[in-house]
Amino acid sequence: MSATIIDGKAFAAKVREQVAAHVARLKDEHGITPGLAVVLVGEDPASEVYVRNKGKQTLEAGMNSFEHKLAADTSEADLLALIDQLNTDPAVHGILVQLPLPGHLNSDLVINSIDPAKDVDGFHISNVGLLGTGQKSMVPCTPLGCLMMLRDHLGSLSGLNAVVVGRSNIVGKPMAQLLLGDSCTVTIAHSRTKDLAEVCRRADILVAAVGRPEMIPGDWVKPGATVIDVGINRIPAPEKGEGKHRLVGDVEFASAAEVAGAITPVPGGVGPMTIACLLANTVTACCRANALPEPEGLTA
Ligand code: GUN
Repeated sequence: MSATIIDGKAFAAKVREQVAAHVARLKDEHGITPGLAVVLVGEDPASEVYVRNKGKQTLEAGMNSFEHKLAADTSEADLLALIDQLNTDPAVHGILVQLPLPGHLNSDLVINSIDPAKDVDGFHISNVGLLGTGQKSMVPCTPLGCLMMLRDHLGSLSGLNAVVVGRSNIVGKPMAQLLLGDSCTVTIAHSRTKDLAEVCRRADILVAAVGRPEMIPGDWVKPGATVIDVGINRIPAPEKGEGKHRLVGDVEFASAAEVAGAITPVPGGVGPMTIACLLANTVTACCRANALPEPEGLTA
């Protein structure tokens, strides 16, 4: 193995420390405590784990955490009423509605009812438009975490060929915008892309966000490339015992690590950065709401 392993767990811990330091200063100097409201509708077990971790890390950073757990059959009107209440609550600086929502709720409508200034997920159409036009916005957490790791490892990204595999609204599209903002030459590839292997082999920066276990083998990776693996896929691991599972990324780690210059592991790569960036976005939103200088190094 030749690649540098990018330690997302350690990087996320550093981001959380910076966030906690900003929070302490906001409290001491301005008497303000940033607050994050998380709304969970229904009982999806994976979502419950995420929401619990978000709440825990929010409190650990010294911020207020407001959790709203609603029944799976909550009406759209009731959910919109809650969001309206959070929009006007001065103690709430960030609002996150956990996705996916139950099928009877219109996710676009719900997300677009959040005050864009409190939209710490960066999913509101206003924030999408602001990011796409290079204006100040709230930036989606996972791509923001990837950008931070890339800048930390590479310094300037200017002029590099970046290939993003995956075109989701949550990761692929905003990731491409951020890379473009840092002056990369950006390609968005996806399941219908012709000669995907060839496209990937041109990448100085390869971001994999498709959700297909180990889909990208090492021989698709350009020697020396920086590989960011956003995938978190649970696959059977009979070698660990009957019924056991393990987590793998969208990249075949062992073969890619032979070729890449640097690579994020799964687990312990992009994953821990997402919640760290959510906390960072909450502090950013709080500073903006109070016309205070934004935390340096925690925004795009
Ligand atoms: N579900 C999976 N990832 C996310 C995320 O980043 N934000 C929200 N709100 N829901 C999610």
